[in-house]
Amino acid sequence: MEKKNIDWANLGFGYLPTDKRFVANFKDGAWDEGALTEDATINMSECAGVLQYCQSCFEGMKAYTTEDGRTVVFRPDLNAARMADSCRRLEMPVFPEDKFIEAVAQTVKANEAYVPPFGSGATLYIRPFMFGIGPVIGVKPSTDYQFRVFTTPVGPYFKGGVKSLTLKISDFDRAAPHGTGDIKAGLNYAMSLHPIVQAHNEGYDENMYLDAATRTKVEETGGANFLFVTKDGKIVTPKSPTILPSITRRSLMYVAKEYLGLEVEEREIFKDELPEFVECGLCGTAAVISPVGKVVDHGKEIVFANSATEMGPVTKKLYDTLTGIQMGKIEAPEGWIYEIK
Ligand code: PLP
Ligand code: COI
Repeated sequence: MEKKNIDWANLGFGYLPTDKRFVANFKDGAWDEGALTEDATINMSECAGVLQYCQSCFEGMKAYTTEDGRTVVFRPDLNAARMADSCRRLEMPVFPEDKFIEAVAQTVKANEAYVPPFGSGATLYIRPFMFGIGPVIGVKPSTDYQFRVFTTPVGPYFKGGVKSLTLKISDFDRAAPHGTGDIKAGLNYAMSLHPIVQAHNEGYDENMYLDAATRTKVEETGGANFLFVTKDGKIVTPKSPTILPSITRRSLMYVAKEYLGLEVEEREIFKDELPEFVECGLCGTAAVISPVGKVVDHGKEIVFANSATEMGPVTKKLYDTLTGIQMGKIEAPEGWIYEIK
């Protein structure tokens, strides 16, 4: 497969349209077969459910070129299942999970020339998404939906690459108790735009959100879960019903325990405990694991000693093992790697 002539090493996290995308439509109570198209635009009613009442959800995953030249996707079954959860919560019809994986595979295959070469530092980001396309004016679910998958080659999510991030404890909430924080709804990201613009204007890289009910517990950022390392090398991650169940975080917890023999714990983490951790990282498909150097709580700095300026040693081991599995350098647990043929 001849690759496109792209400066892979200098890609940021942006949208670069690729040749083909997958489109399927839900009409009269059923999904059609769906097909690949070259048309990157969408024509819809001014009254479409997505435009009026934000009825939309999405997924994020990546395709990699392995050391031996195969194209693989990481755990697409978990993205399919999570999208089904998002759809159920938003009163949208589930796109069958096996069909979701097939659509992702077809789209990646059709854009294989854009899957960055092994060792380039870039990957092909895959964005499956669904939205209400039928008109609604009373507040109710749409009758018609569209499911699409597009791909775009990306580099690191955070500019500055390896440098540790500085976060701000946000005064805004990301998700309400019993709300939609645990699904990947577009609306969760719309409400995070004002807080992130404000954080950036103040010189921060990201927000740390607290739980909305008590504002004492650590939740997540706008686009990634947290991992912390304790002084004695244990990996701790927040447990909360209002954060997105990150596939990267769940995979890292498994890798920490089963590959690295580390102790792991998923539990409530209080803001007051932050000074006790020596490393902090943000984990997600886009973020992979990005090191956090400090969190600023209304002017008070909390510094993570071992990740103050760059990725800490424990986080680095986790990073190397996970990316080694994704790039085919380290044997993966059964079912984690889906090969595109
Ligand atoms: N949390 C939020 C709010 C996200 O948007 C994402 C990105 O998908 C994550 C966490 C990380 O999830 P995953 O590892 O499944 O990409
Ligand atoms: C991802 O990691 O896939 C995300 O969706 C995070 C962000 C780009 C929204």
